[in-house]
Amino acid sequence: SAVGPVLGIESSCDETAAAILAPDGTILAEVVRSQLVEHARFGGVVPEIAARAHLAHLPALVAHVLGQAGLTARDLGAIAATSGPGLIGGLAVGASFGKGMALACRLPFVAVNHLEAHALTPRLPALGLPVAFPYLLLLLSGGHCQCVAVLGVGRYLRLGTTLDDAVGEAFDKSAKLLGLPWPGGPALERLAASGDAARAPLPRPLYGRAGCDFSFSGLKTAVAQKAARITCEQDRADLAAGFQAAVAAVLADRARHALAMAPGTTALVVAGGVAANAGVRTALAAVAAAAGLPLVAPPIRLCTDNAVMVAWAGIERLRLGWQDSVGHAPRPRWPL
Ligand code: KG4
Ligand code: ZN
Repeated sequence: SAVGPVLGIESSCDETAAAILAPDGTILAEVVRSQLVEHARFGGVVPEIAARAHLAHLPALVAHVLGQAGLTARDLGAIAATSGPGLIGGLAVGASFGKGMALACRLPFVAVNHLEAHALTPRLPALGLPVAFPYLLLLLSGGHCQCVAVLGVGRYLRLGTTLDDAVGEAFDKSAKLLGLPWPGGPALERLAASGDAARAPLPRPLYGRAGCDFSFSGLKTAVAQKAARITCEQDRADLAAGFQAAVAAVLADRARHALAMAPGTTALVVAGGVAANAGVRTALAAVAAAAGLPLVAPPIRLCTDNAVMVAWAGIERLRLGWQDSVGHAPRPRWPL
């Protein structure tokens, strides 16, 4: 176990984040700096710009959380930094910074898998609902879309993944077709609120199919075809609502199949930016309820990329006596 507070660092995509947790998991300080402004005019994350922004902002963010927690680097007990999967430039910045601090302060270093950090978030004591192993995780973000049986720390069974786009990517691409700014998920949800899904029926890829893989490219193509025929504002809203309804139905169907594949599951956990979508949450809550299980959705700030989850994953691993060498190289691809 860590003998002092653990610093977590996240830099795998377009959020630069730092957090400090007490060894028992209490959150002492946390900060996230989003790079939305830097990437917005490109309509997506530009890796080189992301890496430079992490480099420019990480040192001040780490200083900020230390100050917020009333600590100096010498008071820390360990450093945990996201070391993959993700954009290599950003990973190199965050992991190197963490390893440098670990070396300078003679602290244990944990190279955290970003997906594992999302997966272990529901066990954060701050959430007040200690979710017991095994549980089923639906990771629904812009970069990841998978269904994982979480059996224990370091023990994950990937039951399904996307055959093409991640679900957040599908939201973003469909939003773009509807003329909404990037990242389109939240804007599409707002537009869908004034639409009627029944007036824009769309395909539901893989619905009813065995297993719990996902596919969204066909749905996006169908949105593109309908978007070309839009004649009024109501059509746009209907199409947004139709898209969201199709996604929610598919996710619910996939979750139902996954629960059947994972006996003994104690909870259905949803994480990632798309977990912010109320339509998606409602659909998944119904699936969980039908299975007699709770739907656990961490608060949005802990669903999207953050460093609290990274520090927590570090604590979970340190408790098992696991740590990594400062020679650990960041891995752009790193399946659970
Ligand atoms: O987990 P996240 O913040 O970052 C990563 O992709 O790792 O997820 C961002 C994704 C984007 O695709 C965004 O459009 C989507 O989550 N998103 C939403 C909503 N809020 C964020 N999608 C649908 N409805 C929302 N309310
Ligand atoms: Zn993430």
